[in-house]
Amino acid sequence: MSQTQSTILVTGGAGYIGSHAVLSLQQAGYDVVVLDNLVYGHRELVEEVLQTKLIVGDTNDRPLLDNLFATHEIAAVMHFAAYAYVGESVGNPAKYYRNNVTGTLTLLEAMLAANIKKFVFSSTCATYGVPKTVPIPEEHPQAPINPYGMSKLMVEQILADFHTAYDFKSVCFRYFNAAGADPDGRLGEDHNPETHLIPLVLQAALGKRDSISVFGTDYPTPDGTCIRDYIHVNDLATAHVLGLNYLFSGGDSQVFNLGNGNGFSVREVIEMAKEVTGRDIKVVECDRRPGDPPALVGSSDKAKDMLGWQSQYADLRQIITHAWNWHQQRHG
Ligand SMILES: NC(=O)c1ccc[n+]([C@@H]2O[C@H](COP(=O)([O-])OP(=O)(O)OC[C@H]3O[C@@H](n4cnc5c(N)ncnc54)[C@H](O)[C@@H]3O)[C@@H](O)[C@H]2O)c1
Repeated sequence: MSQTQSTILVTGGAGYIGSHAVLSLQQAGYDVVVLDNLVYGHRELVEEVLQTKLIVGDTNDRPLLDNLFATHEIAAVMHFAAYAYVGESVGNPAKYYRNNVTGTLTLLEAMLAANIKKFVFSSTCATYGVPKTVPIPEEHPQAPINPYGMSKLMVEQILADFHTAYDFKSVCFRYFNAAGADPDGRLGEDHNPETHLIPLVLQAALGKRDSISVFGTDYPTPDGTCIRDYIHVNDLATAHVLGLNYLFSGGDSQVFNLGNGNGFSVREVIEMAKEVTGRDIKVVECDRRPGDPPALVGSSDKAKDMLGWQSQYADLRQIITHAWNWHQQRHG
């Protein structure tokens, strides 16, 4: 089977990053089936914008998965489905371990039963915890400080063990902060509740919220606010296709960071959003939040070297412009 005829199952494909990955897969010539329980996903993005098959269901539903694999010839799985609210995971860890760990294990066992052994996984920089060095390389110790990060680290461990036991091949991508939107405005970020900085700032610019809170202005950074690594969602999507192609060409299991390589402070993001939108954005300075490291920036050299990945949209202005176009159209 040539890769351009292969069908890829994308779990969580009705969500933010998954939907962009579906578009990139389609552009690369793959057929796609989406599995999403629509707890947070958007049906119309899959059915109307991406015009691909949506199976509404849950990764914890083993009979559904067995039926899906029996009725579709799936060559590999890209797994985005998870819960990703760090704060919620601290208060309700059971919800996170059940969905992110048990749900993934159920999916992996169903894949093994169907003899499908190629898997691309959404991991996170939250598996590193508080970094000892910045930029963070893949070899940095992993010590998550919340159940969300731990749930992703557990899956990474399961995948390493599956590799040893079953010759199951996976690519784990540890993303930094996903941001931006499809440059052509077809897809974008629409989380409810929203916790990510750029959409929150843009909601303030649209008048959908009164102000934007800045948590901590006394960090040891040039302007006192936290620095994060914002990676354009299209760059993430491109990396996923490269990771999949790598597995199809016989590549062994690997872990890659995916970041922009540049950090931007909270103040820099807000200032750029003011410039891009031409609107005033009210800022409220608050105390630090517990567990927020001063700077989180990743080294993506390994993905560049091994996958030939390059960030196409590393510029903060471009990232915010694409997000703004989407927000105006979706919520304006
Ligand atoms: N957004 C980020 O900055 C970021 C950073 C690092 C890692 N990640 C990871 O990337 C992935 C995608 O993130 P996102 O921002 O697109 O989130 P999202 O919430 O927009 O997308 C996740 C999708 O998965 C679906 N889903 C959740 N649990 C499911 C289940 N058990 N069965 C079927 N569908 C289920 C949701 O309905 C949603 O559509 C997640 O695994 C997340 O942990 C995201």
